[in-house]
Amino acid sequence: MLIAIASDHGGYELKEKVKEHLRERGEKIVDLGTTSSESVDYPIYGKACAEAVASGKAERGIVICGTGIGISIAANKVKGIRCGLCTSVEMAQLTRAHNNANMLAMGGRTTAEELAMEIVDAFLDTEFEGGRHQRRTDMLDEM
Ligand code: RB5
Repeated sequence: MLIAIASDHGGYELKEKVKEHLRERGEKIVDLGTTSSESVDYPIYGKACAEAVASGKAERGIVICGTGIGISIAANKVKGIRCGLCTSVEMAQLTRAHNNANMLAMGGRTTAEELAMEIVDAFLDTEFEGGRHQRRTDMLDEM
């Protein structure tokens, strides 16, 4: 799977760890920055990653800032994006199964590394359930 990934400075360290994990899984990665822990603005990176997914360049996106909040807000402003901010494996499973999330957001300052990798695995390995959830995601996409 081709996965776009981006972070601000607050998510930079975790982004680099997630990239290692994705490579170990055999995924292809497009890294859209940032490239260090120097302070940057998360909307730029959330938008860039979301546009890569919305355009079809990447199948899924992963964005990380300090809390995951700001960068998920940015990603969700791009049409066609359903970005779920997840702090547990259950949330990652449900944002795929129910929301058909095409992007995952996490907090580099709020989520431990080991848990983050489990969240990534759940996000990538859980299928959308469709059915009544399809109607609801269609409503989201029409907004
Ligand atoms: C940056 O200090 C921090 O505000 C950002 O990473 C994020 O947590 C915003 O939601």
